[in-house]
Amino acid sequence: MSAFPQTRLRRNRQTPWSRRLVRESAVSVDDLIWPIFVVEGRGVEQPVPSMPGVCRLSVDVAVERVQEAASLGIPAVAVFPVLDPAEKTPGGERAWDRDNLVCRAVRALRAAAPGVGLICDVALDPFTTHGQDGIVRDGVILNDETIEALRLQAVCQAAAGCQIVAPSDMMDGRIGAVRAALDAANLPDTQILSYAAKYASAFYGPFRDAVGSKAALGAADKRTYQMDPGNSDEALREVQLDIDEGADMVMVKPGMPYLDIVRRVSGLGVPTFAYQVSGEYSMMHAAAQQGWLDLPKVRDESIMAFKRAGAAAVLTYFAVELARDLRAGRFSA
Ligand code: PBG
Repeated sequence: MSAFPQTRLRRNRQTPWSRRLVRESAVSVDDLIWPIFVVEGRGVEQPVPSMPGVCRLSVDVAVERVQEAASLGIPAVAVFPVLDPAEKTPGGERAWDRDNLVCRAVRALRAAAPGVGLICDVALDPFTTHGQDGIVRDGVILNDETIEALRLQAVCQAAAGCQIVAPSDMMDGRIGAVRAALDAANLPDTQILSYAAKYASAFYGPFRDAVGSKAALGAADKRTYQMDPGNSDEALREVQLDIDEGADMVMVKPGMPYLDIVRRVSGLGVPTFAYQVSGEYSMMHAAAQQGWLDLPKVRDESIMAFKRAGAAAVLTYFAVELARDLRAGRFSA
């Protein structure tokens, strides 16, 4: 009795009101996390050529923009520092200097926009001369030595006022180590967002332009620590380990090419975020510039796809314009 012609799935799709009633997923401003790039200086707003519409901001400008994001209802911002190459070292020691750029940005943003959650990456790549996320010896990324650095970095960021530390380095055992370090530093309330299933992806290209790690990295890659794009079961192992070690939330990254992973991970019952990474953002812009895609429409559809796959929230460079459009009732997906 459930076959055509009695059953016609088009019945529910006939009118906008009916489509609204039966819709399974929704996008709201509560789902958006805005990644920003900060640089030294004052009044700086420096476009990133490979990311149309994205600028590196000095802290004073970032403060204004984050206040605006807060007024639009965006719950959280992820802060990425762009270091002067002269400040980078092989060991990335600036990462745990309490007066480094990211800590200064965090203090300023906490004071100016106290209602916004601040997320900081825990990884050494913005701070290292070689652009790797960890400490390198004889061409090998050292796991346990890197963890010691990450503990210092995470505590430093949390002490500056960052509420969510987000290890994005993919070293083994770092979540437990960072949790223990935070607790020992009397920071038991700092949340950990683990980049648990982070793939060795070419979609990070424009981000590496933005933070200046591409030139540092040269022809090297991150395949000895970031995941193989062919693996899915392994993502569940990564996530389970991080949950067991104390992650409060987990991330899948990149986003759209890995929605199958978002679906599987969100089924584990831990808040699962997806990162619509720089390459995803830039390719939509590039196609729109050619007149091949309608940017707001593909943007909205892409965010809806994350929600449908089970993401609790999405890190996206579209966050501010999306929040503005959502508030104005302009959402096309
Ligand atoms: C670095 C980091 C990367 C991104 C976020 N944190 C790049 C990388 O791993 O090389 C990529 C984000 C994006 O592409 O938007 N730990």
